[in-house]
Amino acid sequence: KRHLISAADLTRDDAVLILDTAEEMARVADRPIKKLPTLRGRTICNLFFEDSTRTRISFEAAEKRLSADVINFAAKGSSVSKGESLKDTAQTLEAMGVDAVVIRHHASGAPYRLANSGWIDAPVINAGDGTHQHPTQALLDAFTMRRRLVGRDAGLGKGLDGRRITIVGDVLHSRVARSNVDLLHTLGAEVTLVAPPTLVPVGVENWPCEISYSLDEVLPKSDAVMMLRVQRERMNAAFFPTEREYSRRYGLDAARMAKMPEHAIVMHPGPMVRGMEITAEVADSDRCTVVEQVANGVSIRMAVLYLLLGGSEPAVTTARTEEN
Ligand code: CP
Repeated sequence: KRHLISAADLTRDDAVLILDTAEEMARVADRPIKKLPTLRGRTICNLFFEDSTRTRISFEAAEKRLSADVINFAAKGSSVSKGESLKDTAQTLEAMGVDAVVIRHHASGAPYRLANSGWIDAPVINAGDGTHQHPTQALLDAFTMRRRLVGRDAGLGKGLDGRRITIVGDVLHSRVARSNVDLLHTLGAEVTLVAPPTLVPVGVENWPCEISYSLDEVLPKSDAVMMLRVQRERMNAAFFPTEREYSRRYGLDAARMAKMPEHAIVMHPGPMVRGMEITAEVADSDRCTVVEQVANGVSIRMAVLYLLLGGSEPAVTTARTEEN
């Protein structure tokens, strides 16, 4: 494959290959010098039209660990404010010799347009577009689940068959939920969405998952519970749920977490709003994998970049490292 636009484009074999490659990449982080020469001489542009902390820094860390040259572009402070289009911005960057583009955009479909327009030749990786897709987030989430629920070594070559994953909250505006439903289904997991009726997307009955409106009923049957942020920035203010009402029905606190099986984990893609969808006590508990998810994101993004750009090079296990 030349681009990574949607988790729905990945076959089971593609997804398992990325997860297994990420396990190899994770070993680099355990070394004194956390670098491989794989993408030396290649230039990657991180094109961010929407705010980000985790994804932007994680891609940059992954690119640097693979020895790529990195160009960071933020729409704020650029000529986008003067009316420059995505096409002209992308072509300007490609003229400077960019070998791959990582793009986050507030418009659903912008990465697909960039990849299929003929505007540029470079591979395109979607770092989150509108309410549509965030495929590397879904991959890092699946990687975290496979490690915790199947095992780091035991999981190699495997999916998440039969694991029960619950995704809770503002599904309507969540590209993380969409990407996770697609990828988790491909990997054999059983997904249940729990959301207020006003935050359920039209057509959700055609998604490969169940819908529930009772968090308390679903928790005891969950191996992982993923909490979503209420995305006020994508809502009309008239529809904001109140914090108290939302957290009472759909928030995860310690009493609710106690209803989960002992082995079950709590996940969150970040950024979290403590006190709304998750209490501080749950966010800081050792069952919550939010920090682990961030660390795993670097390994996943290294794997995606390696497979899209450096696939003819030796795999990590045999690659010459900077320390050799
Ligand atoms: N999870 C995630 O995409 O976070 P950022 O918006 O900070 O990148």
